[in-house]
Amino acid sequence: MEIQRLKIDFTNTQAFINAQELNDFGQRIAGIQQNMEALDCAGSEFLGWQHLPSQTPDAMLDDLVATAQKLRAKSEFFVVIGIGGSYLGARAIIDSLNNPFAAYHSDAGPRILYAGNNLSEDYHYRMLKLLDKHDYSVAVISKSGTTTEPAVAFRLLKQHLENKYGKAEAAQRIVAITDESKGALRTLASQEGYKTYVIPDNVGGRYSVLTPVGLLPIAVAGFDIKALMQGARFMEQDCLPQNGVENNLAAQYAIYRNALHTQGFDKEILINFNPALVYFTEWWKQLYGESEGKEHKGIFPAGANFTTDLHSMGQYIQEGPRRLFETLISVEKSKHQLGIPKDDSDLDGLNYLQGSNIEYVNQMAETGTVLAHLDGGVPIIKVMMERLNEVNLGQLIYFFELACAYSGYLLEVNPFDQPGVEAYKKNMFALLGKPGNETETQKIRARLNI
Ligand code: PA5
Repeated sequence: MEIQRLKIDFTNTQAFINAQELNDFGQRIAGIQQNMEALDCAGSEFLGWQHLPSQTPDAMLDDLVATAQKLRAKSEFFVVIGIGGSYLGARAIIDSLNNPFAAYHSDAGPRILYAGNNLSEDYHYRMLKLLDKHDYSVAVISKSGTTTEPAVAFRLLKQHLENKYGKAEAAQRIVAITDESKGALRTLASQEGYKTYVIPDNVGGRYSVLTPVGLLPIAVAGFDIKALMQGARFMEQDCLPQNGVENNLAAQYAIYRNALHTQGFDKEILINFNPALVYFTEWWKQLYGESEGKEHKGIFPAGANFTTDLHSMGQYIQEGPRRLFETLISVEKSKHQLGIPKDDSDLDGLNYLQGSNIEYVNQMAETGTVLAHLDGGVPIIKVMMERLNEVNLGQLIYFFELACAYSGYLLEVNPFDQPGVEAYKKNMFALLGKPGNETETQKIRARLNI
C-alpha cells in the first residue's frame, strides 16, 4: 500500500519567530537524535517506543487480532479499564475511527466502555447496571498494577463477571495487560489464568498506544491494527536520524513550537474541525503535559474542538492575552458525503449553499478561522492528512511521540518521568489511612483540622 506522508505547514508562524533560533534548535536536535539512538540521555530506560513500530513482530499483531476476534464474538460490550496512558491512546484511536453513534447500534460489534479512569461512584454504578443486562468482557490495563482508579474498577467488574458467568468463564472474559513480571495485576493474572499481554519495561504509559495497551482495545473495536502500525512504521523510518533534521517532520514541529515558546507563546492549543478527534486531543494533552510540565518549565497543552468551541473559546483565542499558538490537525476529506438541501422559503438564508457538501462549508470555516486567528496574533502550525484512517493515525501518533521527546530534551527536562503525579496520591492515601502512611495521615488531619 502506498502511504502518503503527513504534511506540515509553518507559514503561519513565520512572522512570530526568530530564524536564528530555528537554526539553533535544529542543531541541538541533531545532537539529541544521536543521544536518543545511543540511549545516552535522561530517561533513556524509557526509549523503547522509538523503534517499537518496526520491531513489533507480525506474529504479535496476529495474536492480538485472534484474541480480539474471540472477545468480539461473545461480547455486546467491551470494558477498557485503565487511566492516563493506559487508556487514552486506545480511546483516541477508537473515537477517531468510530461511528460517533456506535453506542446506539448493536450490530457493529461490541460497544466500547471505559472504566477506572475516574472515581465517580455514580459512573461505575450505572455501568454495572447496564452490564447486568448484556454480555461483556474486559481488558484491565495497568503497568504498575496498583493504580487506585483502575484497581477499584477492576474489583467491581471482576466480582460482577464472576457472579454473572461463574469463575471459569469470567477468567475467559478478562485480559490483563501489565508488566512482564512485577506488580499485583501480574500476580493475580497468573493465579486466575487470565490471558495476558506485556507492557514492555522500556515503554512508559503515555508512549504505550502502539503496544497491547492500545492495540488490543483498538482491535476489539474492529479497527485494523496492522494498518495503524504500518503508518507508525512509515513515520519511524521517515524520521530516522540519517534522513536529516530538515526532512524530519517531528523535528521540525519540535523546533517551531520551541521557537514560539522562547518568543513568549507558552500555551499551545491543539485544534481540529472534526468531533472524532476530541479524544485524540486528550491523548496529546497527556503526552505533552506529563512529558514537558516539570521544573517549572513547559508549554501548557490545551485543546479546542472547532467549530463547536469557536462559539465558546473562540473569543478568548481571538482577543485574549497574546501568548497562545495553535496546532491544527487538518483532515482534507470526509468519509461520507452529504449535501445541503434546498428550502423553498429560504428563511435561514442558506440557499446560496444549496447542493454544497457540509465538508466544503467546514473547510471554509477552517480557512476562515486560520486567517482570523493569524490576524489576531495567534501563530498556527498546520498538520495535514488526506483522510482520518488507521495508516494516517499511526503516522500521527508516532510523529507526536517523537516530537514530544525532542521537545522535552530541548527544554532540558526528562520527558519520560512524571514525579508531580505522585503529589495528589500521597495526600489521598494519607486521607484514606492507607497502611504505611500513618505519619502522613496524622499530619494531613492536623492540617485540615479533622
Ligand atoms: O503516562 C503515564 O505513565 C501515566 O499516565 C500512567 O499511564 C497512568 O498513571 C496509569 O498507570 P498504570 O498503567 O501503572 O496504572
